[in-house]
Amino acid sequence: MKRTQLITTEDLSRAEVDFLIEEAEKMRKKGWTEDLKGRVVATLFFEPSTRTRLSFESAALRLGGRTISVADASTTSAKKGETLADTIRVFDKLADVIVMRQPVSGATAEAAKYTEKPVINGGDGSNQHPSQALLDMLTFHREMDQQIDGKTFAFVGDLKFGRTVHSILYLLAQYNARMIFISPKELALPQEYRELLKQKNIPFTEDTDLVKHLPDIDVLYMTRIQQERFVDPQEYQRLKGCYVLTAELVRKGKPSLRVMHPLPRIDEITTDVDPLPQAAYFREVENGLYMRMAILKTVCRNYYASASH
Ligand code: NCD
Repeated sequence: MKRTQLITTEDLSRAEVDFLIEEAEKMRKKGWTEDLKGRVVATLFFEPSTRTRLSFESAALRLGGRTISVADASTTSAKKGETLADTIRVFDKLADVIVMRQPVSGATAEAAKYTEKPVINGGDGSNQHPSQALLDMLTFHREMDQQIDGKTFAFVGDLKFGRTVHSILYLLAQYNARMIFISPKELALPQEYRELLKQKNIPFTEDTDLVKHLPDIDVLYMTRIQQERFVDPQEYQRLKGCYVLTAELVRKGKPSLRVMHPLPRIDEITTDVDPLPQAAYFREVENGLYMRMAILKTVCRNYYASASH
């Protein structure tokens, strides 16, 4: 893998994903390395985050790097009216790699124009969340004995605004998987992703009913209704709580079923699911740490290996 930035999954090949999965597994074995020794990682999060920011920071520290961080946009000069372009020009001088989260779709791609240094997208609006998609691919592989082809994946909840599902689809569409999309009609998958799947000849079904599909599903990927993206708060109130997975429902699925969730969960999965072997969402978090080590190591190696840097 040659790239020095990770902005979208749209152009990531299966070979690149396999490479990062292998790197992540090496990181799991090593635990600590010196790959980022002497490097400063800036995490600029202009939208709330727990896992993504701290997982990148933990990854940077385990690679021997150091971190500087914006966890709250209201403490930055953006509050005074500084443009995103200027903020990035500044961090270009302060850090060796920039991880950023933005509330506006496309903002990370825009920001990356103002620095040559490695930029990693930690989520831009409802558009993309590539590191989450990669850690989910790693989780799919591990939870299903490396066998993704031939399996049935169900994505449930807010498929309109959920950037994790959007990012995963570009990667999963490179496999021979079957997909089921379950959401209220108002939160259905945007047309562009349907087009993508049609183009790749991936069989998929859309429905509002989860229970009827349970016996067919291998991976059940639950998502949160993305409250912050709703223009009308009443619409959110009406749609929240539309799918709640309980232990009783999980038992209606295959014994080998795996339940995933990018987290945070609000009420999509009741806590009685947590102790079941089917519950993979906390293992997903652990996989995220190793995948982010792999991503940071790879983009930094690619960028700083060049003689001009
Ligand atoms: C997701 C996100 O930010 O898109 N969270 C995460 O990074 N694990 C999912 C969500 O917020 O619902």
